[in-house]
Amino acid sequence: MRKQIAAANWKMNLTYQQGSALLQTLVTTEIDLKEHQAAVFAVPFPYLEMAVDTVQHKKNYYIAAQNCSDKKSGAFTGEVSAEMLKSLNVNYCLVGHSERREYFGESNAVLAEKLNICLANGITPVFCCGEALATREQHRQNAYVEGQLKESLFHLSKEALLKVVIAYEPIWAIGTGKTASTEQAQEMHAHIRSVLKNQYGDSIAEQISILYGGSVKASNARELFASKDVDGGLVGGASLIAAEFIEIIKALK
Ligand code: PGA
Repeated sequence: MRKQIAAANWKMNLTYQQGSALLQTLVTTEIDLKEHQAAVFAVPFPYLEMAVDTVQHKKNYYIAAQNCSDKKSGAFTGEVSAEMLKSLNVNYCLVGHSERREYFGESNAVLAEKLNICLANGITPVFCCGEALATREQHRQNAYVEGQLKESLFHLSKEALLKVVIAYEPIWAIGTGKTASTEQAQEMHAHIRSVLKNQYGDSIAEQISILYGGSVKASNARELFASKDVDGGLVGGASLIAAEFIEIIKALK
C-alpha cells in the first residue's frame, strides 16, 4: 500500500511553549500507526530542533520544515538551507505551499530548484499544487495543476520522483472552512496520478502519495481519506488542536 500521511502545517501560529505542549500531547497519546502510515509536523524554523527531539522515539512520526531556500548556501540573509535542515535531522519539507507562491512570489521554476535541493539533502519534499477559485470556475483546474506538475517536477528522474510527496490543495478550500467534496478531491487526485502515469509510467505513478489539503478536519477526514487516490491530508487550522489532529491521524487508511 502507498504511504498514507497525516501532515500538520502549523504555518505562523503558536508560541514555542504552545507548540511544545501540543507536540507533547500528541506524542503521549496512544495512536497505533501501521507500517505504511506516518504523521508529519511542519513547524516553524525555530521549533525544529525541539520538535525533532520530541518525536524521535515515536515510530513513523516525522518533522518537516515549511519552506527552504532554493540556494545551497551563502549570502542570503534570513534564508534557511536544505543542508541546515538535514543537519537537524529534519526529514520532510513543504515546497510551494500556495501561501509561499502568492505572498512570496515563488514560481514553478524556483520550486523545481527547491525540490532538487531537498532531494540532494535526503529530505522528502511535500510538493503543493492547486488552483484558485477563478480557475475552477472556468473549469481550467486540471490543465492548471498539470502545468504546475510539469514545470516543477517533470525534470526529475523516476528514482527522484519516487521520493516526492504531492499535496493537492485547492486555494479556495484553504483556511476557508470550504472543503472540496470527496468527488472533487478524488477527481483531481486521479487526474494528478494520470499525469504522472503519462510521464513516468503506471508503476511509478501508483507509488506516489497524494495528500489532500484545504479545511481538513476530524469530521471530514475519514471520508476524504477513504477515496482511492487520496493518501492522507495536509492540515492547517485543525492541526493546531490536539484532539482534532489525533482524529485526523486515526482516519488514515
Ligand atoms: P487549512 O490549511 O487546513 O487551514 O485549510 C491547509 C494548508 O494550507 O495546508
